[in-house]
Amino acid sequence: MGVFVVFEGGEGAGKTTQARVLARRLQREGNPAVLIREPGGTSLGESLRRRLKGRSDVNPLSELLLFMAARAQLVEEVIVPRLRQGGSVVCDRFSASTLAYQGYGRGLSLETIAELNQVATGGLQPDLNVLLDITVVSGFARKRDGGKDTFESQATEFHERVREGYLKIAGGAPARWLVLDGAKPKDTISGQVWENVKPLL
Ligand code: TMP
Repeated sequence: MGVFVVFEGGEGAGKTTQARVLARRLQREGNPAVLIREPGGTSLGESLRRRLKGRSDVNPLSELLLFMAARAQLVEEVIVPRLRQGGSVVCDRFSASTLAYQGYGRGLSLETIAELNQVATGGLQPDLNVLLDITVVSGFARKRDGGKDTFESQATEFHERVREGYLKIAGGAPARWLVLDGAKPKDTISGQVWENVKPLL
């Protein structure tokens, strides 16, 4: 049976690496897993990603709606068909990113975001959300030098609110969340992830 696993966390938490490791592991175990990211994973999603990360002239409400548009497209075009075929989906960010960044980070209404998430996903929820928790300072220290995108260039306080937001979201739904210390070695984390995903298959 396929599973839907999402990796969440702040900047530099290691989500992308861990999502890749899990997708490969599933494939090695004979499970046709697809690795996708948000925003992205579809033609519309990838162009919205470039727009949202590239320029900071989008107001908070428009930003929220564009993330939702990317999500709605990804759910219908990729996630639901793959799960229906019995495959797995490993996604780098999903609904909780919007609660954390646009809700806790930007201060938009958490209720509104939850309602929009419900509409954009048709109520689809991951079987497991993995939160890679790391301090803001350590996360940014891991990022390669170079240009900062719209979100990376937000103030430290923004990223602190995002981190606290994630911990609240995960704490409110422990059955669906696995919270791991993102500062631990890569192999330790991937082992813990696999131990928690295996029983879901
Ligand atoms: P990343 O894939 O490098 O983490 O880039 C995605 C950026 O978009 C990241 O800074 C978080 C942000 N983001 C939101 O603000 N809201 C969302 O709903 C999603 C999916 C991402």
